[in-house]
Amino acid sequence: MQRQTTAVVAMDGPAGAGKSTVARRVAQAFGFTLLDTGALYRTVALAARRAGVTLSDGEAMTRFAEQLVARNGLEIEPTEASGMRVRLDGEEVGQAIRTPEISMGASQVSAIPGVRSALLALQRDFVRLGRARGVVCEGRDIGTVVFPNADVKLFLTASVDVRAERRYRELADEGASVSLEATRQEVIQRDAQDEGRAIAPLRRADDAILVDSTGLDLEGVVDKAVDLVRARLAAEAAR
Ligand code: DC
Repeated sequence: MQRQTTAVVAMDGPAGAGKSTVARRVAQAFGFTLLDTGALYRTVALAARRAGVTLSDGEAMTRFAEQLVARNGLEIEPTEASGMRVRLDGEEVGQAIRTPEISMGASQVSAIPGVRSALLALQRDFVRLGRARGVVCEGRDIGTVVFPNADVKLFLTASVDVRAERRYRELADEGASVSLEATRQEVIQRDAQDEGRAIAPLRRADDAILVDSTGLDLEGVVDKAVDLVRARLAAEAAR
């Protein structure tokens, strides 16, 4: 099998498992670029809402996502400290895509096959055409669908209660007025949606390493992930 020139670290898992932070820190540790694929689904949901497209209308959403990608309306930009910025028709939407409403909208549009395939090409091109030594690609279907040949696959998870608590704290820190229980219900609903969809459902790839962060603090998870990635990359290089 032909060797990928860019190392790919696939990091999948449910909402609130600490993926974003861990992915970014792993990218920093190895000098890799970050690809936050959830941000792409979120931006499609935001754009569709603004354009008045019904998120549950599969045909309309497919056409909308295809046109958005075709006109380069969705731009991915690596930033300092292994971050990632996404632009919607030139506008930075980093904040606007982080609301609970857009979280649910992203989950909804991500169940539409046409939306997924429009974004699939974008994700693969980012890695294929980019000049990064490596990319940490974070999402739900990276190890199973987007990059099934990834050099390292991690599946990050934690109990529903722990994930809800983390998400709640994150939102509260951002000044959002939400309750812990509402956040918990949102996590449960999103899990069901992401795991239950017919296409590319959230699931651990057979060859992904499971990292359960329930009893670990963030630093502990980061250390564990960095060690696992280092070991795998070294084993790959030695082959
Ligand atoms: O990781 P996130 O919370 O930003 O993702 C938002 C939604 O996008 C999530 O509920 C499911 C969807 N998603 C997906 O279906 N596939 C991906 N690779 C990434 C995200």
